[in-house]
Amino acid sequence: MIAIYPGSFDPITFGHLDLIQRGSILFERVIVAVLKNPNKKPLFSVEKRLEQIKRCTADISNVDVDSFSGLTVEFARLRQGGVLLRGLRVLSDFEQELQMAHINKTLGAEIETVFLATNTAHSFVSSSVVKEIAKFGGKIDHLVPDVIVEDLKQAFFH
Ligand code: PNS
Repeated sequence: MIAIYPGSFDPITFGHLDLIQRGSILFERVIVAVLKNPNKKPLFSVEKRLEQIKRCTADISNVDVDSFSGLTVEFARLRQGGVLLRGLRVLSDFEQELQMAHINKTLGAEIETVFLATNTAHSFVSSSVVKEIAKFGGKIDHLVPDVIVEDLKQAFFH
């Protein structure tokens, strides 16, 4: 079974990486899918995010990284994905994630959403929080890999 892990990943965090790592044990292949979203103004370009994710997942052999635009279920169909993988950090994530799972089910009935509870150590980590701290020069090396720390420094201080 191939799992598609869709998201913005702007940038990838230890929370995402924990989910990818655990997904790679449960599924034959995990395809990390970066959404090209014209409605959002990301800090990092899609190309940069693909590069970042590839570097951070290089040691997991059954992980692929790709980008897509449009509907996640269409991308999943294209890549023969049977499962959409999403993480749940806190109760408040659940409402939106459940709605998304239901919508995706109506759009692609053959695709199931599988939720993994985020590791407790990462339950408070989000890309937005990381960017907020990095912008003010705060410590983020416990939240994201070193390569991302460097990219964030570049983005905000160069
Ligand atoms: O990392 P994010 O921003 O929480 O990821 C959200 C994402 C990319 C999974 C979601 O916005 C998505 O699937 N967008 C693609 C458009 C789509 O398929 N919409 C229908 C489900 S709401």
